[in-house]
Order: sequence, then C-alpha cells, then structure tokens
Amino acid sequence: MVDRLGRRLHDLRISVTDRCNFRCTYCMPREIYGRDFAFLPRSEVLTFEEIARLARVFVAEGVEKLRVTGGEPLVRRNLPDLIAMLAALRRPDGGPLDLTLTTNGSALHQLAGTLRAAGLGRITVSLDSLDDSTFRAMNGVDYPVAKVLDGIAAARQAGFGPLKINMVVRRGINETSILPMARWARQDGHILRFIEYMDVGHSNGWRLDEVVPAAEIVAIIDAQMGLESEPPNYPGEVADRWRYRDGDGEVGVIASVSQPFCSTCTRARLSAEGKLYTCLFALDGTDLRGILRGGASDHELVAAIQAVWRVRADRYSELRSEATANRPRIEMFAMGG
Ligand code: GTP
Ligand code: 5AD
Ligand code: SF4
Ligand code: SF4
Repeated sequence: MVDRLGRRLHDLRISVTDRCNFRCTYCMPREIYGRDFAFLPRSEVLTFEEIARLARVFVAEGVEKLRVTGGEPLVRRNLPDLIAMLAALRRPDGGPLDLTLTTNGSALHQLAGTLRAAGLGRITVSLDSLDDSTFRAMNGVDYPVAKVLDGIAAARQAGFGPLKINMVVRRGINETSILPMARWARQDGHILRFIEYMDVGHSNGWRLDEVVPAAEIVAIIDAQMGLESEPPNYPGEVADRWRYRDGDGEVGVIASVSQPFCSTCTRARLSAEGKLYTCLFALDGTDLRGILRGGASDHELVAAIQAVWRVRADRYSELRSEATANRPRIEMFAMGG
C-alpha cells in the first residue's frame, strides 16, 4: 500500500488510552488537563478485541511494526492481555513482527515481567532528566525520577534490552540534563534519543525559540564524549544515529523541527477511539470504530484503510512555520505519540 508521495504503510502506532498519570508540560499541561477534563468514556474506547482485529488487518496489509502508546498505555487495565493478542499476530511473509511499547515508565516496576511474558519485544521509556527537581517539574505531577529508574531497572531485568530512552529537550528547562543523561545511558547500555520539542497539539504554547536543534545537542555531546555519524538501521528511521568514537554506545536525535523526515514517513496512527490518522499533526482522522461496529467484514476494513492511505499527502514538518504552530489540531496524547 503506497501513498501519493510513494510512501509505504509500514508502522502502526496504537493508542490504547487518552489518559495519563503524568501532566508533562509539553504534552498535557496541568493547567488545561485538570481534574474536570473529560477524557474518553469507556464506551468510546476500542476494546482489546477491536484493537487486535484492526491490527490483524493492518499486518495482513503489510504493516511490520506495531507500537503501543497512549496517553500512558500502562494505565489501561490488563494491558498485558492486549500485548498477548498482538504478539500472536503473524505477518503474511513469515517475517518477524516488531511489537514495542512507549511508556513513561511509572508502572514498569510492577508490569515489566508480565509484559515480557505476554510477548512484548521492546520498550521505549520517556525520561527528560535525571535531576529530580527538573524531572518533577517537567512531568507536572511531582513524580520522582527514582521511581522511573526503578522501572527501567525492572524492564532490563525482565529481559528488555537495550532499552530506548526518549528525552524531549526544551531550551532553558532541561538543556543541562543532556550530558548527564548521555553519560548515564552510555554507562547503563541504553540507547538515548533526544527529541526536538514539537508543536504537537495546540495546548503546549510551543515557540520555535524553545527548540534546541539536534545539531546543537550533538555538538554538546561530541565536545565532551566524541561522536561520529552512523547509518540508519533501516530506511526511514526516525532518529539520526551517532556512536561514540572511543567504544560502545550510541545516541539518536529526532530532529522533526530542524531536519524533517516526512519524505520517508511510513507511520499510521490509530487513536484510542478508533480513528485512523496519517500524520501526527493531522486535523482529523477516519473513524474506523464506526465501520468496525457497523459489522464490516475484513475486506471492507481493508478497503477503508486503503482508501485513506492511497490519498495520503501529509508532510507537515516540511511545511511548518511560526504561522502553522499552535493552530487547532488533535493532541498527541489523544492521537497516539
Ligand atoms: P524505533 O522503532 O525504536 O526506531 O522507534 P521509532 O523510531 O518509531 O521511535 P519512537 O516511536 O520511539 O518515536 C520517538 C519519538 O519521535 C516519538 O515519540 C515522537 O515524539 C517522534 N516521532 C515519531 N514518529 C514521528 C513522526 O512520524 N513525525 C514526527 N514529527 N515525530 C515523530
Ligand atoms: N515534542 C516532542 N516530543 C513530545 N512527546 C510528547 N510531546 C512532545 C512534544 N511536544 C514525546 C514524549 C514521549 C513520546 C511519546 O512523545 O516525551 O517520549
Ligand atoms: Fe503522559 Fe507521555 Fe504526555 Fe507525558 S508525554 S503527559 S507521560 S502521554
Ligand atoms: Fe510523518 Fe506527519 Fe511527522 Fe511528517 S509530520 S514525519 S508526515 S507524522
């Protein structure tokens, strides 16, 4: 399945909930997402059976990677049951299905072993600083960094490794955490990826001058630790890879603002309410839940997905400007990160 710009549908990112126990300033600022914010009612959220059925159809159509996201996916009750259902899916060509999870790490301490036993392949943990006060401020709920580090250790012990660690870098907020994070990740054998702060959604008040460009991040680490560029693991990899010149370890930079990668973007997103989005910055999606609950056959589902993908022409990050930022659009936690 190929879109208007010649891009194949390769990854499906599945949001299992729009809820989260954190209120990261760049994603769900707590001033806006307070106690009375109306998240999706349960009847509007896809059931595990519905998610697994859609995932099976996507895999049959050539999707090779499933990433489970949220919100925070581990706040969804019994998530390991869904993981087991997804792990049972098979690609038509017999190749391996990459099944992976993005989490804030707060529940890994309890769940890592169960997730592994259910068949999850990989885990990416979001962690913006090792400095406790910086981390507590960025997660918006005063959550201590030590608990996330416990979760990371539990994931390692359960056999997930190397882990990927995502750090969103915001000018003046956690820039000074770049080097300590790099040293820690290298020492502990994690693959750290720095993410340029993005204008996702429309409630984080994004400004271009808060973005620390990837080149600057690489220069900071290179000056102290020595880096050289590495080729991508696969065409269209989101992160640019850099390895340490003097031995093991790598870091990645996700430069969606300073060096957009839309030309190789092969990702579709399925929201918790069953909407299909073809870009992280989309204004709207296609309601697959209605089609599913209307009794559609697999064939009809395939037709609906193909109809969306074939006309896809999204390339928001290549068109971004100060003028396009902070326009109304779907929040990242609602669409799937
Ligand atoms: P691997 O399979 O481990 O290589 O993961 P990945 O490359 O899919 O990276 P991951 O899913 O961890 O994505 C990291 C972050 O990059 C996301 O959380 C987003 O912040 C950002 N990102 C991922 N995909 C896109 C995309 O299509 N567009 C933009 N603008 N940002 C993206
Ligand atoms: N800019 C960049 N990355 C973001 N994420 C959430 N919001 C933003 C943003 N505004 C990241 C999270 C997590 C992943 C799902 O997306 O930190 O690692
Ligand atoms: Fe929650 Fe992740 Fe958004 Fe933070 S970035 S508020 S952990 S969904
Ligand atoms: Fe893909 Fe849209 Fe991100 Fe570009 S901005 S890489 S099209 S999700």
